[in-house]
Amino acid sequence: MKDFLRELDQKGKLKRVSKELSTDLEISSVLFALQDQAMLFERVSESHLSAAGNIYATPELMKLGLDIPQGQELAEFAGNSIAAPASIKGHVSSFDNSAWDYNVQADLKELPILKHYDKEAGNYITAGIVAAKFPGTDLENLSFHRMLVLSKNKLAARIVPRHLDQIAREMDRQKVPVSIVIGPPPAVFLAASLQTEYGLSEYKIANKMMDQKLELNTSELNDIAVPTDSEIVLEGYLDYQELTKEGPFVDLTGTYDDIREQPVITIQRMHYRKDSVYQIVLAGSKEHALFMGLPQELKIRNVLSRSIPKIRGINLTPSGNGYFHCVVSIEKANDGDGKTAIMNCLASSHPLKLVIAVDIDVDPFNLSDVEWALATRFQADRGLVQVNGARGSSLDPSSGKSAVTSKLGLDATLPLKGDKSKFERAKITLSPVAASVISAAS
Ligand SMILES: Cc1cc2nc3c(=O)[nH]c(=O)nc-3n(C[C@H](O)[C@H](O)[C@H](O)COP(=O)(O)O)c2cc1C
Repeated sequence: MKDFLRELDQKGKLKRVSKELSTDLEISSVLFALQDQAMLFERVSESHLSAAGNIYATPELMKLGLDIPQGQELAEFAGNSIAAPASIKGHVSSFDNSAWDYNVQADLKELPILKHYDKEAGNYITAGIVAAKFPGTDLENLSFHRMLVLSKNKLAARIVPRHLDQIAREMDRQKVPVSIVIGPPPAVFLAASLQTEYGLSEYKIANKMMDQKLELNTSELNDIAVPTDSEIVLEGYLDYQELTKEGPFVDLTGTYDDIREQPVITIQRMHYRKDSVYQIVLAGSKEHALFMGLPQELKIRNVLSRSIPKIRGINLTPSGNGYFHCVVSIEKANDGDGKTAIMNCLASSHPLKLVIAVDIDVDPFNLSDVEWALATRFQADRGLVQVNGARGSSLDPSSGKSAVTSKLGLDATLPLKGDKSKFERAKITLSPVAASVISAAS
């Protein structure tokens, strides 16, 4: 991560804060107010380490970290990397204590872990990537989990049943060795947010993204590979026999998530350097929405590209938290394509609650254009799709504890046949004189 921070700094894209700020709501309030801005907090009251947040707040920032060419979209790049993971054999060396200034017993109070929102249960690690081995293999799964600090060596981890939970189940809920990585190279951060098939290590995806230049070290205690270029590594074990209350914590929607019984991670060893930078992802921020939305966008793209001849764009709207609402702009080849697109989107991404299908002349990223299409092309008696009782997201406070949701589709596409002239946006031909008047006045 350090290289990326340096690059941001050189390009004038990193806002440095030299005033000392507290981990108790102060740093998070600044990150909340400046959500598009990568920030470095040089002096933190409670720790000798500095902290960085919002560093991948926009797709452009992440693209910079990955050296993605201008024309390529982040989702396309991520999709291509999932399709061609690169083996990491030969890139894993054994742990070198001398590469770190501190190889110490756990004391989480040393790290600038924040309390982010007023009514949260305490201080939470929010950019922690949990690496754990798929049982019986030499391959690591990576996933983000928020972790509440319980004491100097214990964390409560929120684990939605996906791969880490499956690993624990395959191990009969015995202790699962884990290494928590904070501040890895950008590609590892992105890869860890992606949802792939069980058994595929996200390190291979990151290695593909980095042109096979990802360097890993097995961690000291538990033989789990961690990126050499990480800011902080915590080693320990996840234990489903030790459960505790986790929450309240503000999640993606900016609302407080439920308090649940969750497993404890015991940290045995911490590795960091004098100049390590602690990374923060503010929950409910644009950065959080970007990396929660990306895996959903990939699932939607995957299905839509097989069923719809031409797609102009897919917008998981920012106000829908990049997760719940989607606008898809398509070129129809069949009169049913609007509804087909809606059904495919709703089925491929479980959190989606609203899909709006518009014609290819409507920009899905311009929400006033989209509303104009709804106003002039949509009729509820023929364009509405409603599905009740489908799987939703536990993050949606309106879907209740069971996370069962109703889903809505609005088909604002025009029929293929018939007179389209009355649906066209009227234009005014611009003379050179008129253009000069406009440019002088604006
Ligand atoms: C910033 C961020 C925070 C996340 N927090 C959690 C969390 O607290 N618990 C959880 O189970 N998933 C969380 N996720 C989602 C998973 O990390 C993500 O879906 C991951 O791809 C799952 O990995 P897997 O497919 O290997 O299981 C978070 C994702 C991001 C990007």
